[in-house]
Amino acid sequence: MVRAAIVGCGSIARLRHAPEYKNNENAVIAGFFDVDRKRAAEMSNSFGGRVYNNVEDILNDSLVDAVSISAANSVHSLYAIASLRAGKHVLCEKPMATTLEDCDAMIEASVAADRILMIGHNQRFVPAHIKAKEIIDSEIIGNVISFRTVFSHKGPETWAIDKSRGTWFFKKEIAGMGVTADLGIHKVDLLRWLINDDFVEINASISTLDKKYSDGTAIQVEDNAFCILKSVRGIMGTMTASWTNYGEEENSTVIYCTGGTIELFCDNDHQICVRTKEGNCSYFDSENIQTNDRQTNSGVIDSFIGSIEKGTKPEVSGYDGRESVRVILACCESAARRSVVRL
Ligand SMILES: NC(=O)c1ccc[n+]([C@@H]2O[C@H](COP(=O)([O-])OP(=O)(O)OC[C@H]3O[C@@H](n4cnc5c(N)ncnc54)[C@H](O)[C@@H]3O)[C@@H](O)[C@H]2O)c1
Repeated sequence: MVRAAIVGCGSIARLRHAPEYKNNENAVIAGFFDVDRKRAAEMSNSFGGRVYNNVEDILNDSLVDAVSISAANSVHSLYAIASLRAGKHVLCEKPMATTLEDCDAMIEASVAADRILMIGHNQRFVPAHIKAKEIIDSEIIGNVISFRTVFSHKGPETWAIDKSRGTWFFKKEIAGMGVTADLGIHKVDLLRWLINDDFVEINASISTLDKKYSDGTAIQVEDNAFCILKSVRGIMGTMTASWTNYGEEENSTVIYCTGGTIELFCDNDHQICVRTKEGNCSYFDSENIQTNDRQTNSGVIDSFIGSIEKGTKPEVSGYDGRESVRVILACCESAARRSVVRL
């Protein structure tokens, strides 16, 4: 049995982490910590477990085996490193950290403590994405040439626990980056995993097009990112991330291969559509992708608990998390320099 403490009791903890630990028969929720004690108390009432006064209390609790970090981006590395050094396994939300130095320090702490560090990149666990990876790996429609991927919604002020334009997601010193690190990073991780390759050339344009604080000034972080990514093997594609899609949330990907295309979440009736160059079309129906308003089991917590129980490597490692942060930072650098960045 794995006893897990949850640090950060906002939307993702309420909607995914806590219910998924609660539903995992090999896990028990030891308790919660949040700088806003009321939020931790609400979680304790809903899901059981105690309220911790601070992170040190969690680290000193010998009954805690694992720490789930679902607090704001700027504290991910601090809490992850402290937890690993205290001998706890760590599941850390994305983006893993806001600098590469912090990512490296987290990985080093995990290796030194011989404890699992997993990053919460949940797109890999979406059944349609798993099926797409099987299709790509089998090469039944040839090799991947290019891709197009999009993740866009109305913005974190409609999602985060603080539903206002004062949310930390709009504060550079806490968030680190804007939509590129919030939504874009999901697609970078998904694509790296699907094509089994790293991105080495980035050309991006990012901008704050619409979001404003309540005083009417533009937010400090970008609300739109338009990025061209090229991999080691020369696979190229576009990644669009936006917080200014005020219509229906988009979370779709098309993989263009030598023998046809794989369309993921492009059609309301079918989650996967495979079209061959001969004109045949096959549909594979599975569960719909999660949206902010429709939450289903992400698979992340079950995978994390499974790794701890079996002593196996996490399905999304610290190295994976670091690579995605590296690409996202390169997108920001490319946009700032208005030139191609080579990694
Ligand atoms: N994997 C996903 O699909 C996904 C989705 C949403 C958010 N996230 C990530 O999860 C994290 C939390 O996002 P959210 O949407 O739940 O945000 P949120 O604003 O709803 O909640 C964040 C919580 O963290 C708490 N907090 C802030 N600083 C803290 C600190 N120093 N110590 C303890 N608690 C602190 C806040 O009080 C708040 O309750 C972010 O890193 C975000 O990028 C991941």
